[in-house]
Amino acid sequence: MKALVYHGPGQKAWEEVPDPLIVDPTDVIVRIETTTICGTDLHILKGDVPAVTEGRILGHEGVGTVTEVGSAVSSVTVGDRVIISCISACGACTYCHQGLYAHCLAEEGASGIGWIFGHLIDGTQAELVRVPFADNSVYKLPEGVSDVAAVMLSDILPTGFEIGVRYGHVKPGDVVAVVGAGPVGLAAMMTAGLYGAARVIALDVDRNRLEQARGFGATDTVDSSDADWADQVRAMTDGLGVDVAIEAVGIPATFEACTQVVRPGGSVANVGVHGAPVQLALQDLWIMDLSITMGLVSTSTTPMLLKLVAQDKLAAEKFATHHFSLDQMIDAYDTFGRASETKALKVVIKR
Ligand SMILES: NC(=O)c1ccc[n+]([C@@H]2O[C@H](COP(=O)([O-])OP(=O)(O)OC[C@H]3O[C@@H](n4cnc5c(N)ncnc54)[C@H](O)[C@@H]3O)[C@@H](O)[C@H]2O)c1
Ligand SMILES: [Zn+2]
Ligand SMILES: [Zn+2]
Repeated sequence: MKALVYHGPGQKAWEEVPDPLIVDPTDVIVRIETTTICGTDLHILKGDVPAVTEGRILGHEGVGTVTEVGSAVSSVTVGDRVIISCISACGACTYCHQGLYAHCLAEEGASGIGWIFGHLIDGTQAELVRVPFADNSVYKLPEGVSDVAAVMLSDILPTGFEIGVRYGHVKPGDVVAVVGAGPVGLAAMMTAGLYGAARVIALDVDRNRLEQARGFGATDTVDSSDADWADQVRAMTDGLGVDVAIEAVGIPATFEACTQVVRPGGSVANVGVHGAPVQLALQDLWIMDLSITMGLVSTSTTPMLLKLVAQDKLAAEKFATHHFSLDQMIDAYDTFGRASETKALKVVIKR
């Protein structure tokens, strides 16, 4: 089969590799019909994730058809269309029992981390993929849900919802600021509506992204490179500050921005993946009765979000801005890698 293979920092190829085989009785093999690229894949290609070794097939998002099932798999059969979750979960360990699949203790890949596709085991940017723990890691697609909508449920929609909206305790009537209007921030904006946010303020430094945010539920936009960006946000909240500030970039400045515009008693939900320490100004913040949360997505809400997509209550397909075929994978990476020019949100790659 063909797959997108990582060959060390800055190097990748769409090339012939051996077909995956069932290894454990809990595995399935899925023929990928649709996949996509995540910002994390770009980080890996820069060499920022040293756990990814040369020869690894990248990708942790995908939709496809089951072609083989291990002897212990009971929830799917050959021919089923499924969403592959970016998190693999054994379903039996103590964290899986708490729904904290992100920290699955099974030995596949490495114990304690559920994100293993395109990281510690071969991923989904391929014609075929071996999916471990299939009973807990793939979700059958109902009739009528398109691949393009479904592939947004592998990672970005549950991430924005679980780590942004849910951890941030968004409530009816809340004013929510989302710093970073990339796919994950936009997913938080879109799903903040599920909990009744009254006002959703998108902050970004990229004017295109701010414009796009209005299509994902943002009621207001603020260019965070403006000198008075914080005053602009406060002016939208009667001067008090926002109820919930969601960080969806992953740099110190944007985490600090969230702590600057949240009101006393509010929440800061960090979604971004950070590569450098962030100063926490506890000398100012201790008095504010804030809750600060962070985490790796578990994708435990994927089945619920899938129901909403099936009922046309979440327009997941909106994230797909560019379409490619599998043999154009390198072009898809190029378009996604130049997102500020190409206005790409999610590039969708179909068989
Ligand atoms: N916690 C999790 O489980 C999880 C899962 C997936 C992704 N993530 C992380 O979420 C973050 C967002 O992901 P994405 O795919 O949307 O990323 P992205 O790079 O596509 O989007 C980031 C956005 O932030 C904007 N930005 C950059 N600097 C800024 C600044 N100073 N102020 C305001 N905006 C700024 C960019 O213009 C861009 O629109 C990343 O850090 C990613 O690694 C976390
Ligand atoms: Zn991802
Ligand atoms: Zn587990």
